[in-house]
Amino acid sequence: EGAPKPPALSWSFAGPFGTFDRAQLQRGFKVYKEVCAACHGASLVRFRNLSQPGGPEFSAGQVAALAATYQIKDGPNDQGEMFERPGRPADAFPSPFPNEQAARAAQGGAYPPDFSVLAKARTYTRGFPTFIFDIFTQYQEQGPDYIHALLTGYKEPPAGVTLLPGQNYNEFMPGHLIAMPNPLSDGQVEYPKGADGKSPVPETADQYARDVAAFMVWMAEPHLEARKRLGMQVMLFLVIFAGLLYYTKKKVWSRMP
Ligand code: HEM
Repeated sequence: EGAPKPPALSWSFAGPFGTFDRAQLQRGFKVYKEVCAACHGASLVRFRNLSQPGGPEFSAGQVAALAATYQIKDGPNDQGEMFERPGRPADAFPSPFPNEQAARAAQGGAYPPDFSVLAKARTYTRGFPTFIFDIFTQYQEQGPDYIHALLTGYKEPPAGVTLLPGQNYNEFMPGHLIAMPNPLSDGQVEYPKGADGKSPVPETADQYARDVAAFMVWMAEPHLEARKRLGMQVMLFLVIFAGLLYYTKKKVWSRMP
């Protein structure tokens, strides 16, 4: 049985001029670190990426301090031994499990997928000819729409559906049965406070889901802003170039009767 289409949310990074909301990415990272990272790795993302332009843009100092809070497996050393050392900005996020088998063993057989490019998953095409527009716009919004819908879509199973141990019912999971337990609840993650001592956004499961979904889009597409900027420059160049070609053509052919 299929699942309903996730509601379309409005994302700051949508459209040809879209950019990430730095504060949102920083909050999303906090949700990932404190909640999701217990089960989901992000093996393609390095701590130093968090301070690069176009992302959450933590300071280099913040990133170094953050990396140092992790213990990273390294080696072999000169004695041929593996060892642990504090993390450095160049290290990747350590995965919560040593390998997929260990992850499955801990989750009753299910595998929590790596987050590095997960925001690209579960997108769909709308058929010809709209798929042409999907390629440019929709795909990058469908991923986070789905993630937000999934994280806020846990329900009691309807009458007639019996859950096996380790199964949960989710409105938006294709097939509705999902091994991941509902990870988010209101008030679970503390957000940075503004000048008035309150968080500028609500500390609710809905907001956590939005923020972590946006963060996952950045992980999957760290160069989104640069790519869009270049695209606009190319379009501008093409318009000017088309004008130049037009006047060149007029000049070259000006003596034709
Ligand atoms: C699967 C996100 C926390 C365990 C997934 C999927 C997403 C996701 C997008 C893929 C669903 C699909 O197949 O369409 C998140 C986010 C989290 C989070 C954003 C934090 C807010 C957790 C935690 C656990 C966990 C804390 C472990 C207790 C799993 C497992 C699956 C999964 C086992 C595979 C489910 C299946 O195939 O049935 N998660 N997750 N997740 N997650 Fe999470």
